[in-house]
Amino acid sequence: MTTLDASQSGSFAIGGDLTVNRLGFGAMRITGEGIWGPPKDRDEAIRVLKRLPEIGVNFIDTAESYGPYISEELIGEALAPYSQGTIVATKSGLTRTGPNVWPPLGRPEFLRQGALMSLRRLKVESIDLWQLHRIDPKTPRVEQFEAIAELQKEGIIRHAGLSEVSVEDIKEAQKYFKVATVQNLYNFANRKSEDVLDYCEANGIGFIPWFPLAGGDLVEGHEKAHEVMNRHGASGSQIALAWLLRRSPVMLPIPGTGKVKHLEDNVAAATIKLSDEDFETLDAIGRR
Ligand SMILES: NC(=O)c1ccc[n+]([C@@H]2O[C@H](COP(=O)([O-])OP(=O)(O)OC[C@H]3O[C@@H](n4cnc5c(N)ncnc54)[C@H](OP(=O)(O)O)[C@@H]3O)[C@@H](O)[C@H]2O)c1
Repeated sequence: MTTLDASQSGSFAIGGDLTVNRLGFGAMRITGEGIWGPPKDRDEAIRVLKRLPEIGVNFIDTAESYGPYISEELIGEALAPYSQGTIVATKSGLTRTGPNVWPPLGRPEFLRQGALMSLRRLKVESIDLWQLHRIDPKTPRVEQFEAIAELQKEGIIRHAGLSEVSVEDIKEAQKYFKVATVQNLYNFANRKSEDVLDYCEANGIGFIPWFPLAGGDLVEGHEKAHEVMNRHGASGSQIALAWLLRRSPVMLPIPGTGKVKHLEDNVAAATIKLSDEDFETLDAIGRR
């Protein structure tokens, strides 16, 4: 049986000083349908969270808007006080007006309230990595960046990141604070943020691809990819994760689940090492 150990995925130092194992966990799926309300199986969600430190997962991504609040509350309940080296990254900047609805709000007072309330729910004194969930198009971008710089100056947050941004947004934000991470939609089959990933890699910025498991089906449906799966005795989703880890040393995938079995399947991908040839074969399939 494969040993489950996320440290096999290698490590990355967020902001240059917070070292995490690259294969992390996304805590959006420990909530109800539509990312609204409590999870169907609360006990299982708590078991998922408690399993994380046991299998070397020390990078957890959440947001105040997941539930809303439920994901952060469960993390605080299951894991605080946190094991040494565990980093919980959270986000603000989205309101919730119903299931599956996420209107952005980037007014400085809302971002500040978000960070302060996350401290309470996560039961920490400072947020290791706080991310602006979306740049609100109705609020001047600079006001949002200034609010982040202020939170950092006050020590409410340690490092700051952005989500769903362009290279130009990152460059503008860097005039106000050091951008530690960027979280954009990216996976084996969706490569629209390739330029952002390249910029992050060149500048030592962690790149957190959300929806990382998508493309697993594409792998399974392809004859050449099947050969790679068979060689590694792995599923399509595991190969999709291994491909991400191989794509860049700044890649920090955060597959999400509310089930221990799925968590363990995902973490098992940390041990898969793709050869150059496997990587290129999969890369060509994904680009198509
Ligand atoms: N920044 C943003 O705007 C943004 C947007 C979306 C998500 N995110 C973050 O990214 C994380 C990951 O994104 P995501 O949850 O959308 O996508 P994902 O991790 O690629 O996929 C999650 C889905 O796959 C299922 N799944 C997970 N592991 C599985 C396995 N081993 N076998 C079969 N099914 C499996 C989950 O259902 P089960 O629960 O049934 O396992 C869930 O439906 C989120 O948790 C969140 O932290 C960020």
